[in-house]
Amino acid sequence: MKLAEFDAWVSAETARVESALESWVPADAPAGLGQAMRYGVLDGGKRVRPLLVLAAAQAVHGLPGAAMRAACAVELIHAYSLVHDDMPCMDNDVLRRGKPTVHVQFGQARAMLAGDAMQALAFEVLTPNDGAGNALPDMPCALQARLCALLARAAGHAGMAGGQAIDLASIGLPLGEQALRDMHHRKTGALLQASVMMGAACGTATRAQWAALADYGNALGLAFQVVDDILDVTQASATLGKTAGKDLDNNKPTYVTVLGLDAARRHANDLRDAAQAALARSELPDAAWLSLLADKVVERES
Ligand code: IPE
Ligand code: IPE
Ligand code: MG
Ligand code: MG
Ligand code: MG
Repeated sequence: MKLAEFDAWVSAETARVESALESWVPADAPAGLGQAMRYGVLDGGKRVRPLLVLAAAQAVHGLPGAAMRAACAVELIHAYSLVHDDMPCMDNDVLRRGKPTVHVQFGQARAMLAGDAMQALAFEVLTPNDGAGNALPDMPCALQARLCALLARAAGHAGMAGGQAIDLASIGLPLGEQALRDMHHRKTGALLQASVMMGAACGTATRAQWAALADYGNALGLAFQVVDDILDVTQASATLGKTAGKDLDNNKPTYVTVLGLDAARRHANDLRDAAQAALARSELPDAAWLSLLADKVVERES
C-alpha cells in the first residue's frame, strides 16, 4: 500500500517538476542558447534531487511554492553540472539521458554557455518578486536568501565544482578511501544533501531535526555516487542512458576500483542504513517519502 502510494507520489511530483521546468527554461534565449538549455534540462533524468527537496519540504510542512522553486533550482544546477561534466575537457562523453550530449548536439561553446546560463537561471528561480520588487507571499526574502546560500555553497568550490576539480586531478591516481570519500561528498553528495536542506528550509524544523536531516542527506548523497560507480561497471549504456564503463576508460578512481564491487555494494547498503537511522532520529512523523527515496537511491538500476 505504502509503496503504491509512494510510486503515485513520485509520478505526480515528477510531472509537476517537469511542467515547472518547462515554464522556466526559456525557448527564446538568443542564438540557439535557449534550445541548448531546454535540450539539457527537459525531457530526461530521474529528477531525484527535486524529489528530495519536495519530500523534505513535505516532512516539515514547508511552503509549497518555495519548495517547487527550490526543487527546480537544484535540478538546474545538476543539469548544468552534467553538461559540463560530459565536455571533452572533462569526461568526454557522447551520451546523456539517452541522447547525444549537449556539446555533441550544439558544439562546445554553446554547451559551455548553456551550462553557465542554467546556473544563473537556478538563482533567478529562487529570487522571484511581484514585478514591483516585493517578495511573493510564499517566498519571503529571508527564505530566498537562505535557499540561495545553501545552493551556492553546494554548487561551488566547497561542493560540486571543488569535487569535480579533485576528480580531474585524480585521474590515474591510487586514491585512498578517505580521499575518495571526500571527492564523492563534494562532487555529488553536497548537492543531494543541499536538496534535503533546501526542502527543510521551506518549513520549520528544530535544531535536532535539522542536524538529523543533514546526516540523512550526507549519507544518502555519498550512497548516490557509490551506486553511480557500481552501475558504471554493472549496467549497459542502454539502461543507463549514458556510456557504461566510462570510469575505467577514463582511468578514474571509484568505489569499485578502490574497494572492489562486493565491498562497494556493502558500503552503499551501510550508507542507506545510516541515512535511515538519521531519519529515525529526526522523529519527523511525515518522513515516509524520504525513507523510501533512500531505498530507491541504493536499489536503482539506472
Ligand atoms: C548523474 O546523476 C551524475 C551524478 C552526480 C552521479 P543522476 O544519476 O541523478 O542523473 P540524471 O539526472 O538521472 O540524468
Ligand atoms: C559526476 O560524476 C558528478 C557531477 C558533478 C556531474 P560522474 O562523472 O561519475 O557522473 P556521470 O557518471 O558522468 O553521470
Ligand atoms: Mg565526471
Ligand atoms: Mg561523467
Ligand atoms: Mg559516473
